Amino acid sequence: MEAFRIVGGTRLQGDVRVPGAKNSVLKLMAAALLAEGTCTLVDVPDILDVRIMAELLNRLGCEVAYEIGRGTLSVTVPSGPGHRADYDLVRAMRASISVLGPLLARQHAAEVALPGGDAIGSRGLDMHVQGLQALGAEVELRHGYLVAEAPRGLIGAEVRLEFPSVGATENLVMAAVLAKGRTVLDNVAREPEVVDLCRMLRRMGARIEGVAGSTLEIEGVEGLHPVEHRVVPDRIAAGTWAFAAAMTGGDVVVRGGESGHLELVLDKLTDAGAQVSDAMDGFRVVGPQRPRSVDVATLPYPGFPTDLQPFMVALMAVADGASMITENLFEARFRFVQEIARLGAQVRVDGHHAYVRGVPGLSGAPVEASDIRAGAALVLAGLVADGETTVHEVAHIDRGYDGLEVALRGLGADVQRIGVPAVEPI
Ligand code: UD1
Repeated sequence: MEAFRIVGGTRLQGDVRVPGAKNSVLKLMAAALLAEGTCTLVDVPDILDVRIMAELLNRLGCEVAYEIGRGTLSVTVPSGPGHRADYDLVRAMRASISVLGPLLARQHAAEVALPGGDAIGSRGLDMHVQGLQALGAEVELRHGYLVAEAPRGLIGAEVRLEFPSVGATENLVMAAVLAKGRTVLDNVAREPEVVDLCRMLRRMGARIEGVAGSTLEIEGVEGLHPVEHRVVPDRIAAGTWAFAAAMTGGDVVVRGGESGHLELVLDKLTDAGAQVSDAMDGFRVVGPQRPRSVDVATLPYPGFPTDLQPFMVALMAVADGASMITENLFEARFRFVQEIARLGAQVRVDGHHAYVRGVPGLSGAPVEASDIRAGAALVLAGLVADGETTVHEVAHIDRGYDGLEVALRGLGADVQRIGVPAVEPI
């Protein structure tokens, strides 16, 4: 068991580089299943979730090679991959369900374990399932697995999503690119990671129109070919660094950060008193002495991302004034409020609203990461807390950040990774 030990009080200063997006690369790895041969992804972060997806692809008969130093990952797909995603992997990483669409499209069959409860709430799969059924698949739940079949292949259809779900959009696009005829997907998610997936699919030979809009029109093709593709920069990692600068009154240049993917976030940070400007190959954030309070509500892209909501709560915890943070996507993301309260934050949660009363300072304490973003937000809170903060369960943070503590030390923070002995019951 590992933890981060943080001694607060440093103003972060320097440059940091953002790798390719976790939430994109996992889907791009799944998309590789759509073509026989070797797809190569560039700018792949060295994170646990990538390794879980690599194991999943291995078990499907693919060969995955990862050159960590260069951030290059290649997936070699055989002519007939398997079609089962086992429970142990899906349980470890919900994004495993993104192999459902490609396997159904390519193999006309897929068996994917149902993801269980997740630390950020019960996230449904109804839109994934209904969309695939509209494309002609038969989907049923058998012994804990979603079993999907389309013996004669998928057939293009019109599908309107009830909500612009990222995962459902991605699964349906990957299913439709090899379906017979034309598919129209309406009310789709427009996140930069969805756009990245569509771009890779187009380069593989898929015919997709309307990319980056709310309606995608897809003309199915007979087959796709492998490509090399650079992963879109991780806007949530870039946002994390922007918050790190804003919280510590620091001065950080986020290299490789795409400010155009964070417009609303950077506007909110500016409202809170930070100065944001363009920098070579990225953007720069200079934090205020003390942040001002701002209200935020999470929404699908281009709204404020739910993944950055815990960081906003952390920033507002030390702001001058009170603010209202509204979570419209995953209510359970507020679970981390009880942890940040251990540092002295004053937050009251009522349904999907959190009312945060800023305090002049936090005080270091032991806390626990419950998911990737909550964990990283607690680390940032520890940076401004008085004394020592220990963030336990860093395995959650490692799922999404490539050496968070190393990058923080590069900016001057006092953060160490330590081993924590497990408590043995007597
Ligand atoms: C992805 C991201 C996650 C991000 C989220 C929203 C990955 C690996 N994860 O998750 O980090 O927070 O987008 O930007 O890319 N829903 C249903 N039924 C469905 C599908 C979704 O009810 O069939 C609901 C979910 O419960 C949730 C909301 O829709 O309330 C958003 O989910 P979705 O956009 O699908 O998020 P994910 O793809 O799971």
